[in-house]
Amino acid sequence: MGLQKASYEHVLSLKCLVCGKEYRPDDVDYVCPYHGSEGILDVQYDYELIGRRLSQGDLLHCTDYSMWRYRALLPLRADASLPPLTVGWTPLMRANRLAADWGLKHLWVKDDSRQPTGSLKDRASALAVVKAWEKGANVITTASTGNAAAALAGLCASVRQPNVIFVPQSAPSAKIAQLLVFGSQVLLVQGSYDDAFELCLLAAREYGWYNRNTAYNPYMTEGKKTVALEICEQMGWQAPDAIFVSVGDGCIIGGLHKGLKDLHTLGWIEHMPRLIGVQAQGSAYLYEAWINHEDVLTKPPIEAHTIADSIRAGLPRDRLKAMAAVRETKGAFVCVSDEEILEAIPALARGCGIFAEPAGAAAYAGLLKALHNGLVHADERIVILITGTGLKDVPSAMKAIEQAGTRAQVVEKTIEDVRRAVGQMNSALRRSSPSPP
Ligand SMILES: Cc1ncc(COP(=O)(O)O)c(C=O)c1O
Ligand SMILES: [Zn+2]
Repeated sequence: MGLQKASYEHVLSLKCLVCGKEYRPDDVDYVCPYHGSEGILDVQYDYELIGRRLSQGDLLHCTDYSMWRYRALLPLRADASLPPLTVGWTPLMRANRLAADWGLKHLWVKDDSRQPTGSLKDRASALAVVKAWEKGANVITTASTGNAAAALAGLCASVRQPNVIFVPQSAPSAKIAQLLVFGSQVLLVQGSYDDAFELCLLAAREYGWYNRNTAYNPYMTEGKKTVALEICEQMGWQAPDAIFVSVGDGCIIGGLHKGLKDLHTLGWIEHMPRLIGVQAQGSAYLYEAWINHEDVLTKPPIEAHTIADSIRAGLPRDRLKAMAAVRETKGAFVCVSDEEILEAIPALARGCGIFAEPAGAAAYAGLLKALHNGLVHADERIVILITGTGLKDVPSAMKAIEQAGTRAQVVEKTIEDVRRAVGQMNSALRRSSPSPP
């Protein structure tokens, strides 16, 4: 791929997380040349310059209600063209009823199921498209458990950018349908996400495609960090005490950490929230490493199994950033069973009106686990981040409903049969009376 030179005034360098060596953005494509896939790069900014050019007051008057309102904090050229889909500025809503159920005083839900393709991954894929243009790439590729792929497919469709997607054949059919509807070239890998990741790296090298792979591409963290910037702005720059997020590869939690560090360095928030990473019991690489004080650079991959396909990762690709996010914020990892994840789907939906996919609902299951373990207290200001919509995985939702023992009643085409059915509903209709938020 013929690299085009770019100049990003606000970016100082890309720094290897393993050796600390710094590179100019134009001098390196993805990872540290000395450390290969482990040598994940972190974008270093000139915060003094950014602070002079952007203030909290400026944002008060900013009418761009998308992730690009923070472009001064993103690795963009001044003249960068942006894709037309509106990504970001998703609602942060108070969840008073859900809070009351658990004796909490201050609970918010950040709803990234509202993104254009239904998951937080749109934030990263939007930036991937811009970076690929900068490089003059003809084709973009990614491996994904499903959502990053759907996000890239949608963003590419919005600008007619050819793309090739590697997903496990076992990905939920709604996510595969999204890829095909958006017109991507789709390779269903007969293997795991980890297999898809390795194949994608090989193919990208062979064909010179621009690679969006999580962790491998240093800019994906930057796109995802915009969710942290939004949370803090939407809370009037009074950062929460703790944020709950589900963790697979660890890129989202790493992005949250980066966004919060940006704001702390700029002096826009006074304290760093604790980051609580929620893993599924059968895919708990990072939870295990954290509990057992293991080195994630040497810990071997695990065999991952969970109903929450989006957080099924045997070797979390962004494990260094994820570990740093939890350690440096004095947060924690918690782990939840598939049963608890399934329970959380209707509980969250009924408690605040958000229908999440298993990985999204896992954040709520993690909050309940943390409360049980005494990791959070009733008077803390807590945010749970819902990362993807439940419409992406209807079979899991139906399984959750079955587990909850709820089902629909079939009625004959007569009012008598409706009366019979309503008779059976009466206790449910009386159970709770509507209450203002
Ligand atoms: C809905 C959803 N939640 C959580 C995650 C976990 O994000 P990460 O792999 O960056 O830890 C993903 C990743 O695919 C996701 O799609
Ligand atoms: Zn290095």
